Amino acid sequence: MDISVNSAVKDIFENTYNAKPQVVAVAPGRLEILGNHTDYNEGYVLSAAVDSYTSIALKISKEDYCRVVSPQIQQEVRDFSLYGIQNPLPAGDWTNYIRGVICEFQKRGFELSPFDAAISSTVPLSAGMSSSAALEMALVSGLCELFEIEMNLTDKAKIGQGCENNYIGAKTGLMDQFTSLAGKKDQLVLSEYRDHTVNTIPIPEGYSLVVFNSGVKHDLSQEYNERREQCEEAVALLKEAYPHISSLRDVSLEELMVEKGRLPEVVHRRALHVIGENSRVLQAVARLRENDIESFGKLLFESQQSSIDNFENSCDELDFLYRLAKKSDLCLGARLSGGGFGGISIHLLKSTDIDIYVDYIHSQFNEEYSRIPETYFCSCADGAAAKKC
Ligand code: GLA
Repeated sequence: MDISVNSAVKDIFENTYNAKPQVVAVAPGRLEILGNHTDYNEGYVLSAAVDSYTSIALKISKEDYCRVVSPQIQQEVRDFSLYGIQNPLPAGDWTNYIRGVICEFQKRGFELSPFDAAISSTVPLSAGMSSSAALEMALVSGLCELFEIEMNLTDKAKIGQGCENNYIGAKTGLMDQFTSLAGKKDQLVLSEYRDHTVNTIPIPEGYSLVVFNSGVKHDLSQEYNERREQCEEAVALLKEAYPHISSLRDVSLEELMVEKGRLPEVVHRRALHVIGENSRVLQAVARLRENDIESFGKLLFESQQSSIDNFENSCDELDFLYRLAKKSDLCLGARLSGGGFGGISIHLLKSTDIDIYVDYIHSQFNEEYSRIPETYFCSCADGAAAKKC
């Protein structure tokens, strides 16, 4: 990611602290293209880093406390000591993301000293493009640069995941952070979450993904954690038949069908979604390599249908966008992206059809909900980067 484009955050830093930052870091938001709730099941995800990003400017401080400012969220500068921050502030306080990341560094034995930070972001907040992972990965990358800490991609991502799991309360997987770090311009990211390997695949020329925000905001923690527990229950029960398995990644659709009777009906559907998604990601990669975009698009539709039927992590507005997409001759595929229960819907189109298609969605959505969904035109971008000023 090109850090030089980002002078805004340096200005915020200089205006706030009357000093120049030592390090600037940036990290992008992400789109989940295919592979829904597969990451914490050690499975496969196709995703992309997008050209919206969070930037952070940092400087080591002589004081004995940290200061952070993010004028988009709150005008006042917040400060806190590096010690005794093991407990989060009340839910919803944005500095919990900063504190949580620091705690995760400390848990791993890294002694940070107090620093000042300024933050700005172009990633839409609470839309499902992982503004929180962008913040975490910008901060992790920036702190590694500031304190000269060597850390590989997986360990950096795990700091962000630890922040979410232990500090924010959502037992999320690694995909958001991983994508924010591993993104590549004009490429999709294929990742898998047992060995944490990553590959990139060029996006087909002449096609675009348009993103519609359902406008439904949802605190993920409760339903997300419940889905995760159901996946774990499926593994525990399937182990009785297949002792070698350690996650849903190890189970084929055929094997699941044979042992269907072992699982409560809901748990079976949750497993069906995850196993189906793993299979769709691998099929999608093959279709993309053959440049068979139509078949690739159909897999996106299948994914949304499975979210509706099996994982039950869609919502009325996302279903409506999906039905509009299916009705249109212009859309090759569409699905919800990310945790679900709200957030965004991604639509695959020929780039030449964007204007007419967006008009169609806006007018139909407006008729149904009396509002126009926020719409983003994303391109695939490079992952996080940090440099000294
Ligand atoms: C959220 C989580 C990710 C992943 C997706 C669903 O974005 O943060 O780890 O589980 O939901 O695929």
